[in-house]
Amino acid sequence: MTTQDSSKAPTAATGQAGGSERARYAVVGLGSRSRMFTTALLTEYHESGQLVALCDPNQTRMGYYNKKFADSYGIAPIPTYAPDEFVRMLDEERVDTVIVTSVDRTHDHYIVTAMENGRDVISEKPLTTDADKCQRILDTQHRTGQKLTVSFNYRYAPRNSAVKDLIQSGAIGDVQSVHFEWLLDTRHGADYFRRWHRDKRNSGGLMIHKASHHFDLVNWWLGTVPETVFGFGDLRFYGRDNAERRGEVVRSYRSHGSPDGEKNPWAISLADDPTLRALYLDAEHEDGYLRDRNVFADGISIEDDMSVLVRYATGATMTYHLTAYSPWEGYRVMFNGTKGRLELNVEERSYVSGTAQDPNKPGAGAAKKAPPIDRAQLMIRPLWDVPRPVEVEEGAGGHGGGDRRLLNDLFGEVKEADPLGRAATHVDGAYAMLVGAAANRSFASGLPVRIRDLVDFPGRR
Ligand SMILES: NC(=O)c1ccc[n+]([C@@H]2O[C@H](COP(=O)([O-])OP(=O)(O)OC[C@H]3O[C@@H](n4cnc5c(N)ncnc54)[C@H](O)[C@@H]3O)[C@@H](O)[C@H]2O)c1
Repeated sequence: MTTQDSSKAPTAATGQAGGSERARYAVVGLGSRSRMFTTALLTEYHESGQLVALCDPNQTRMGYYNKKFADSYGIAPIPTYAPDEFVRMLDEERVDTVIVTSVDRTHDHYIVTAMENGRDVISEKPLTTDADKCQRILDTQHRTGQKLTVSFNYRYAPRNSAVKDLIQSGAIGDVQSVHFEWLLDTRHGADYFRRWHRDKRNSGGLMIHKASHHFDLVNWWLGTVPETVFGFGDLRFYGRDNAERRGEVVRSYRSHGSPDGEKNPWAISLADDPTLRALYLDAEHEDGYLRDRNVFADGISIEDDMSVLVRYATGATMTYHLTAYSPWEGYRVMFNGTKGRLELNVEERSYVSGTAQDPNKPGAGAAKKAPPIDRAQLMIRPLWDVPRPVEVEEGAGGHGGGDRRLLNDLFGEVKEADPLGRAATHVDGAYAMLVGAAANRSFASGLPVRIRDLVDFPGRR
């Protein structure tokens, strides 16, 4: 532990002190995404939960957040721990639940260690990055019986909930097939090629890091599980080889201090954004992590263009495509049912993680050059009848209001019954990432991959 104990800290703004009956949470991984959870625990949910510890290899990032918490809420520093002090942290701070918001490749370690030490876990998606790690998590959860939740916020976005409601109510009959296209634009999509995600060992590639959201949606929308996956995935736009093939010259390995500077639309300025500067530029002396790698520089091992075919246990199939270099951000998904067709078209607000436009950041405004709000169009086309639009009310905040609803399911004292079953379990988390893991294997082998050949679900063997 490297800062003072905060359990007796000032309380007026947040109720951080006392309150022994409140659930005690530790957050592991204090980057951009952690903010959604820490802010919730220090504000709206301070009566039901208490933030008692932080764990990250980077002390500068933890220090940044402790200063923010002090400035915003008037509390004393939350105790901070290094990764090798994780188990000691659980005991010293009497942690009930660990919230995992670290680099994807590290999720399995914290999930398994926390459960083995009798703690519940809330993990950010993806549950983990490959099938072997997934097996270890499933086995540990089965053996320990601890609660493991995966925070699939997209389920809670009003438009996605509306699709679930319509399919579940039988509006288009039994779904036979799904056609799903997801577009990441050159603001948001490019950012995965600057950050740790560009190394497949860290993220599992976009099939796991990003598409696990989408694969989870389809599993949940259809109320089924995936069985067989086949796909092609390549790096066709980012990276040195692609740039040089187009005649472009790659002169720098990162944006900071590069001769191209601000003129290059692919660059990001860490120095000019106060949050990016504090969280990443000022912290890189500790771990060498560069948040602003050139998207055309060497070292990218993830794909940017992916096509996948999935067959589900119900017999339904999906054709799925993900592009990470699109001029606009959003998705289109179409369901062919025995009574008609459902079509959802969404234009999403694009953002760069950690910047002023990031919806995870409290008080963040709309992105400057992006559409001011998400736009969704949902249409039912019944067989032998006129098509009719379905009204979708979008909420404020991240992911069309989804993040707020998710937080209430995680931390709210009053949890209403949810006929849509939006709260995701570890099994949901596993099936979502396993579609991506199977796609990754198929990319490498050129062959279809069966989910049951990747993991055994304990209790179902
Ligand atoms: N649900 C969503 O919409 C959503 C959105 C963004 C990110 N995420 C997820 O949140 C997580 C964090 O992403 P981010 O954007 O905040 O990344 P980030 O790079 O801003 O933060 C990652 C943090 O993990 C820390 N870390 C690295 N190695 C670690 C280790 N061994 N032990 C503990 N911590 C370690 C880093 O120091 C850093 O502070 C990822 O799993 C990501 O998939 C989810």
